[in-house]
Amino acid sequence: MPSTTTTSSTSYGAPLSAVAGRAQEVQQLLALIQPYLYGFISTGDSGAGPGKLITEPLPPHELTAVFDLDLPAAEGRGEEGLLAVVKKVLRYSVNTWSPGFMDKLYASTDPVGVVSELVLAVLNTNVHVYQVSPALTIIEKATTVRLANLMGFNSPNAGGMTLPGGSASNSTSMVIARNSLFPDTQTKGNGAYRFVVFTSAHGHYSIEKAAILCGFGSEAVWTVPVDKQGRMIVSDLEALVIKAKEEGFTPFYVNAGAGTTVLGSFDPFEEIGDVCRRHGLWFHVDGSWGGSVAFSENQKWRLKGVERADSMTMNPHKMLGVPMTCSFLLTNDRRKFWGATMARAGYLFHETEEDGEDEIYDLAQMTMGCGRRGDSLKMAFGWIYYGKDGYQERIDHAFEMAAYFANVLKRKTYFHLVSENPPPCLQVCFYYTPEGVLFDNAKKNTTTTRAIAAKLVAKGFMIDYSPDPTYGEFFRAVVNSRTTKETIDALVCAIEEHLVILN
Ligand SMILES: Cc1ncc(COP(=O)(O)O)c(C=O)c1O
Repeated sequence: MPSTTTTSSTSYGAPLSAVAGRAQEVQQLLALIQPYLYGFISTGDSGAGPGKLITEPLPPHELTAVFDLDLPAAEGRGEEGLLAVVKKVLRYSVNTWSPGFMDKLYASTDPVGVVSELVLAVLNTNVHVYQVSPALTIIEKATTVRLANLMGFNSPNAGGMTLPGGSASNSTSMVIARNSLFPDTQTKGNGAYRFVVFTSAHGHYSIEKAAILCGFGSEAVWTVPVDKQGRMIVSDLEALVIKAKEEGFTPFYVNAGAGTTVLGSFDPFEEIGDVCRRHGLWFHVDGSWGGSVAFSENQKWRLKGVERADSMTMNPHKMLGVPMTCSFLLTNDRRKFWGATMARAGYLFHETEEDGEDEIYDLAQMTMGCGRRGDSLKMAFGWIYYGKDGYQERIDHAFEMAAYFANVLKRKTYFHLVSENPPPCLQVCFYYTPEGVLFDNAKKNTTTTRAIAAKLVAKGFMIDYSPDPTYGEFFRAVVNSRTTKETIDALVCAIEEHLVILN
């Protein structure tokens, strides 16, 4: 039966012929689902030990059957249908608020994050031109300037913009680099050049995808070897740049990592910056993961030299708990971004005589896109509420927990630490070695890692793994600002319990 908010016999919700009643309907729907949302969060809040990660984990084919969305061909199912599907989504989703969620490079958001998403949903506006999103545009401009300043970009033109994720920020940086250094490619394409870009052997795959997207092809990505700590070997970078030039290629872009995806290493930015300057290359820093350490006075030394970069990615949705997605591409000179990406489209961008590259308010002109979410609002709200001090406290605590975790493993017989001790970032990488020694048997190690990772879910822990060509897959556990020593001890204990099972 249609609900009370219905005016016709076949549709739910406020009448389409009038705008009245929508506020009340929002209130009603929020009241309907709120208890379930709070329930979900508080399950994850349940103390230091692992909470329930997922009410009912199912393999994809079973979940597909259970979910059976039955999207209406005609009449909607109103409140009843909505509530049923909300309950299902919560039941079959991984609870990232749980302390045991130590899987990918993010965890839950925080209360202000939830509120900021709600505000964005209510505004439902597009931050492509100032006219339709004045407040969000001002917030984005102010937030990007402050973030750029935190990275050490202090010129009057420092700033940047948000993009939908670290991969998008990285690929946009490559487009901007190519268009800035070789403006003719904007009209003529890549034809005249055999471009080469460089990234660390431990760089994120988004660099390869960016090269494909730019039409260079994946072979245009030359990987630079890393040292034992997973840091780019700068002399090898320079040798490769020279080799590329000698062979008639056009090297133009170097991607360095601030917090690599697996080990969390920070590259030697100052030396890389020197190489880029010597050879006229665009210097990009992928700080999707580790860029957020700029918020901590105690950890920001890891970013020494990033201020030399032409562009830098950072993702507050990873380390800072800002809701997905929130990624920034920052720079010391946002005019370059505009110059490399702006398009003439009079139907959207109504430029005036006064408009210029120094002050851009139609922010889509600094991207390769059009429609944009106001993701900076989420960063700004969190920053205003928790302060830089709040974020510093979180980051410092998380680094302390990573060090604690590595120490615990180091002292135990049945673990082999892959990470440095202390780890350079918040990932703790290790093998579980039930026989007390790490065997040179990749298959065996991989089987052990996968089997335990799968079993840990029922114990309230989700941790991922990564490959090593010689020794096979190892655990990569990621701590966050909510991780406690008790959670770490409980995880180690849960892994050790499998000693019996595997033997
Ligand atoms: C170093 C690094 N760069 C880029 C990315 C991609 O970021 P996103 O998932 O926001 O696209 C990741 C993701 O983990 C990453 O670790």
